[in-house]
Amino acid sequence: MIQVAVMGYGTIGSGVVEVLETNKDKITEKTGKEIAVKYILDLREFPGDPHEAQIVHDFEIIEKDEDVEIVVEAMGGVNPAYKFAKACLLAGKHVVTSNKALVAAHGTELLAIAREKNLNFLFEASVGGGIPLLRPLTQSLAGEKIEEISGILNGTTNYILTKMAREGQTFEEALKKAQELGYAERNPEADVEGYDTCRKITILTSLATGKEVNYEDVPTEGITKITDTDFKYAAKLGTSIKLFGTSRMEGNKASVYVCPMMIGTDHPLFAVNDVYNAVMVRGNTLGTVMFYGSGAGKLPTASAVVSDIVEIAGHMEDNIPTGWTDEKQPVAPMGEVTFSYFLRLAGKSADKLADVRAAFGEAETIELPEMDEFAVITGEMTEARFRKLAAAFEEDIRQTIRYTK
Ligand code: HSE
Repeated sequence: MIQVAVMGYGTIGSGVVEVLETNKDKITEKTGKEIAVKYILDLREFPGDPHEAQIVHDFEIIEKDEDVEIVVEAMGGVNPAYKFAKACLLAGKHVVTSNKALVAAHGTELLAIAREKNLNFLFEASVGGGIPLLRPLTQSLAGEKIEEISGILNGTTNYILTKMAREGQTFEEALKKAQELGYAERNPEADVEGYDTCRKITILTSLATGKEVNYEDVPTEGITKITDTDFKYAAKLGTSIKLFGTSRMEGNKASVYVCPMMIGTDHPLFAVNDVYNAVMVRGNTLGTVMFYGSGAGKLPTASAVVSDIVEIAGHMEDNIPTGWTDEKQPVAPMGEVTFSYFLRLAGKSADKLADVRAAFGEAETIELPEMDEFAVITGEMTEARFRKLAAAFEEDIRQTIRYTK
């Protein structure tokens, strides 16, 4: 028997207990051992809960119990999750977490402790919710040089953008609906400002390069400035707008960024809607593969946590290499990255198009009826060059969204 403790009995923690129960037979068959939840750590009481007897309020009970071999951290946030996860590893316990904030901030150190002590620190659920993504990246694609990772990594913002596209809602209306449905946090900043996507693309890049990426170095722009007017142009163009986390790796260089992208119908992620996530990974000999599924939610995320428990059950005495070391991976400045741009400008295209073309070269023009503005799509150029050229139109620019077909 393997005894497990679950820290945090919220959405994910209770989901983990549920999945372990629902799939008990399958898990026992697969691991050859029974996985039993000995403790559930939470500050709250759960009167009447079928697992009431396992609830404890004191972390030290878990830390000091030598029978507990695997600890699931599902508390969220960096503190005290970091302190507890580190203490568990130092006490000789394997740790599984769904917490991207913890992994992005302290992954390097926690992985090093796990390596040194022949334990495992696994975090499949921290990126892409239920989508098997980190294990394929570090194991199935271990022989590939990963050149690019790009995708929709946040379910809440994808839901909001889908609502705006389909129903013409404003950002505020769609956010309110997402909150009502329990997708967005009460304080939705981490989702809508792109911080959640930033941590996820940071984790993916660290695993792909084997080096530590500092999430604070990743240029991050959320979706709060996207408007219903942008979606009117998108509808006319047959495009969509999605929040992307992207990492392009070449030699020792990595361009990592988070921003809304306008994408065309031919883009593989065009039809990824609602709370779904999808990630494209390009390897040097493999080409591009795509991962798609539920990026958030209780049971999908818990399923990924349980997959880590099952993985560890087969490696109780050895460390599974992830390749993530403490070497630093610098992030290239955004100015060096190349995009096309969707640009909304005040005024009439008849008056301004000559100036626009003089600055940006040939540019596709889009007009909507009865609007005192028009839009253009530029050719490809580096962000630094775009900013320099766009400075001349500063007074007129109403919106800028990076664009790819
Ligand atoms: N807030 C996150 C999302 C949860 O909406 O994708 C999953 O990481």
